Amino acid sequence: KPVYKNIELAKQAKPIYKNIELAKQSRPVYKNLELAKKQKKSKKSAKLAAAASKQGENAPKATLPEKNSQPQPSTLARKPGKQTTLQTLRENLPIYPHADSIRSALTNTNILLLAGETGSGKSTQVPQFLLTSPWCDHRVAVTQPRRMAAISLARRVADEMGTALGKSSPTAKVGYSVRFDDNVGKGNKIKFLTEGMLLQEMLRDPGLLEYSCVVVDEVHERSVNVDLILGFLRDLLVGKGEGARKRKGRPLKVVVMSATADTEKLKGFFEEGYRITKGDTATTNGTGTSEEKSKKSELSLLNDERQQPGQDNARMDGSDAGRVSTCFVEGRQYPVQTIYLHEAVQDFSEAALKCIFQVHCKEPMPGDILVFLTGQDTVQSLQKLVEEYAATLTEDFPKLLVLPLFAALPQAAQQRIFEPAPRNTRKLILATNIAETSITVGGVRFVIDCGKAKIKQYRNRLGLDSLLVKPISKSSAIQRKGRAGREAAGKCWRLYTEKDFDALEKDSPPEILRCDLSAAVLTMKARGVDDVMSFPLLTQPPREAMERALLQLLQLGALDDDGRVNDTGRRIARLPLTPSLGRVIIAAADPDMDCLLQVIDIVACFSVENIFLNAETEEMKEEAQQSRNLLYRRQGDHLTLLAAVQAYAAESSDRKMWAQRHLISHRAMQSVMDVRKQLRAQAQQAKLVSSDALAATDERTSTSEETANNILRCFLRGFMSNVARLMPDGSYKTIVGNQNVAIHPSSILFGRKVEAILYNEFVYTNRTYARGVSAIQLNWLDKIWGDA
Ligand code: CDP
Repeated sequence: KPVYKNIELAKQAKPIYKNIELAKQSRPVYKNLELAKKQKKSKKSAKLAAAASKQGENAPKATLPEKNSQPQPSTLARKPGKQTTLQTLRENLPIYPHADSIRSALTNTNILLLAGETGSGKSTQVPQFLLTSPWCDHRVAVTQPRRMAAISLARRVADEMGTALGKSSPTAKVGYSVRFDDNVGKGNKIKFLTEGMLLQEMLRDPGLLEYSCVVVDEVHERSVNVDLILGFLRDLLVGKGEGARKRKGRPLKVVVMSATADTEKLKGFFEEGYRITKGDTATTNGTGTSEEKSKKSELSLLNDERQQPGQDNARMDGSDAGRVSTCFVEGRQYPVQTIYLHEAVQDFSEAALKCIFQVHCKEPMPGDILVFLTGQDTVQSLQKLVEEYAATLTEDFPKLLVLPLFAALPQAAQQRIFEPAPRNTRKLILATNIAETSITVGGVRFVIDCGKAKIKQYRNRLGLDSLLVKPISKSSAIQRKGRAGREAAGKCWRLYTEKDFDALEKDSPPEILRCDLSAAVLTMKARGVDDVMSFPLLTQPPREAMERALLQLLQLGALDDDGRVNDTGRRIARLPLTPSLGRVIIAAADPDMDCLLQVIDIVACFSVENIFLNAETEEMKEEAQQSRNLLYRRQGDHLTLLAAVQAYAAESSDRKMWAQRHLISHRAMQSVMDVRKQLRAQAQQAKLVSSDALAATDERTSTSEETANNILRCFLRGFMSNVARLMPDGSYKTIVGNQNVAIHPSSILFGRKVEAILYNEFVYTNRTYARGVSAIQLNWLDKIWGDA
């Protein structure tokens, strides 16, 4: 939802205009202003010279404008050039002198913990250093928390190595594998992949036989997935379990990389692993070592004394010092001046808008601006406002090139971030916390930090994860500020007061303490960990969270009553979806239901933010309404999405036009079709649908009443707790938890009264909304709960 209801309103607020006027009048240190004038002149003389030479006159040679202009930092830093340029850039990275010590650390030990500032070259260089090690006869895997980083790093490293990417050529050396996009060629030596993909691979190949080395990057982010990976890798390293046996003495090398220097805890964690396998379980941390805990079943543990959330398993006793190597890479950090607000602001987007133009109009070039915002929505709405205002600036000011940066950004747009800006143009990157450590954009001298981020949090009351906008931690604020001082001295504006900064938490708690653990627990179970309470985790989650996850998996029918994973659970775990959506897919493949392909179409839509666009004018709205009416289904959003996908897929002439006519995002639909294709392939691989059935499918455009009901029943099987019923006063109350919930305005059921609703997720603005809503019959629930 845009921050400003409409741009006009924002304009009226306009404290900023005053500043701009002031800035214009005072004409501060605009070296570039003079420069721009000179450029104009020299362009003129170049034209004259060209005209003169046409006429054959012996005109003086024109000065090329470039000679007078100051080079843009981004042009210099990232101009995609020849191999030699890239090689020089590589050699200048702070990590480069450490290449030999990194290689030798991994010759002497199997695990290296590597800490180094963002931008020091860890992600791009370390995999390349390792390739030349004598033990490296198989692939190097490098995990990333986000798809976007995995793809852009693969591309960058392929460029640096001078080879093609992925499957595109038999000689390609670097590939990537992210959810719904596998681009790994046979000859690839380095594979960037998301943490989720590595966990999937571990299910199929517990020994990770494909690899000589696994590099776990961005560990400081402490996603649940990274914590699971560290646990599995620890077992592999110390020779425990099926995976280790399968490697038959061929040690796996592991590099764990972090942008923060806090490696003590990691060191303790891995050393504990070695110590336990040696049989020394004498020392405990008060809650029992992992080994001791494994002797008790998780169900008996439910009655034990409760373990404190956040209590760590890791600790050091020194007996295994020397088995774990560490390396610290000094980053380059120039001084960064911090500027705080004197008073707290209500609306950080407005404050950011004001600050952006103050910086742009007052601070000298070169120097790009990086703004940290909370999410895709705030990024996009601020982009609109900035672009609108920037268009009104006179030519005296450099141009502003606004670049959004968020995790779901399409690939082509991602690439633009790394491209050099045109001449006399300042880049303004509007980013989520993805730019905090994950993506390095060169050329930045000015940082504006809103002090907040969207953080995933489990909401007990609702029994669901939700994304909440929360203050960041001190360490995040320091990371954000640091981005301004990578190439020269910089400035950081914090859109909060110094007192607010002092009150921030030191670090953000790891995700494992904040979110729904059902996917994590299912992954462990499917990977053969029967007693998940004994699994080695860097931070032990609260017992209740584990219990809740077990319960949910029992309800989904993924576990048997004794808590062991069953066939359904294993099948769900292999799908790249949450356990709930995975369960929907499995239910739809049941011959009684027979609606798998339709369900896949709907699930594919859930992988994008929203396929329906908002009309910018009343006229557009009216025009689109007519076409859209044909897609709307009275049962609700699920079947409406299905109708949209089916109609789009059946459109054979011009899909772009079709999307425009229906005010549907063509880009989102392309991505939906991509995901649909991959999910179909995965369903086939998992033998949920036969290849004959797939081949025989025409693009259908209609759905019978019976199939429609079956589809909703399947969704109910995965989301049985996401149901609310109509109250006599016309409101809806959830069946589990008895909470008030309203139908989101984006739903086609908005304002309608039906017996009961099934919803896909909750969203919060000023109240609790259900989004992705369909009407269901309450009597369907009896069978579903009966089955569970
Ligand atoms: O991992 P770390 O943050 O230490 O650094 P990195 O990601 O290896 O980045 C090293 C350098 O490569 C930076 O100067 C980045 O700007 C550059 N890079 C790039 O140009 N394109 C990418 N996709 C990734 C990194």
